[in-house]
Amino acid sequence: MNALIVYESMFGNTRTLAEAIADGLTTQGVDARVTLAYDAPADLSDYALVIVGAPTHAHSLPRTTSRTEAAAWAADPTKELTLEPMAGASGVREWLKRIWLVGDPHFAVFSTRADIPSIFSGDACKAMTKGLKRRLARVDSHADFLVGLDNRLLEGEETRAREWASGLVPLPIA
Ligand SMILES: Cc1cc2nc3c(=O)[nH]c(=O)nc-3n(C[C@H](O)[C@H](O)[C@H](O)COP(=O)(O)O)c2cc1C
Repeated sequence: MNALIVYESMFGNTRTLAEAIADGLTTQGVDARVTLAYDAPADLSDYALVIVGAPTHAHSLPRTTSRTEAAAWAADPTKELTLEPMAGASGVREWLKRIWLVGDPHFAVFSTRADIPSIFSGDACKAMTKGLKRRLARVDSHADFLVGLDNRLLEGEETRAREWASGLVPLPIA
């Protein structure tokens, strides 16, 4: 089975999870490919499972203005954040407008967000699910992974992502 993991990431946390998710799928015998959203295919007909991940910005998916703000955070030495090489490129929000569905893949979405009650943090999963439904895709699963005030993943989140991915594998077979 082929799976595609599409993500964007400003400071590397969502990328780390995308890689952990690929690892979790690979251990289940899935052929998993990870790609940044700006470079992701619009034709998904090769994939039985597509997993989409993004950081939560302003309660939703990143947009040009919030990516610029993230770059400003990374430029502040007191924050000790490193900007991902393609952080300024287009991301999941833009990719969702480009895709067209062939082959009816299953979808799952994940976000990274602050470790505060979700009513205050918001959640990029909702925007991704909405964008996918607009393309008539069904989203079978979603998960939020948490970062601390320092914008770094909480301990155990990488393992949780790997396990979440392993649990997705029966989906396309059902
Ligand atoms: C401009 C900006 C806006 C943000 N807004 C939110 C928010 O509304 N809710 C939240 O939980 N986290 C918010 N965050 C924190 C991000 O969710 C966090 O930096 C991200 O999950 C880290 O993932 P990344 O390393 O892949 O970029 C924001 C971060 C930035 C840079």
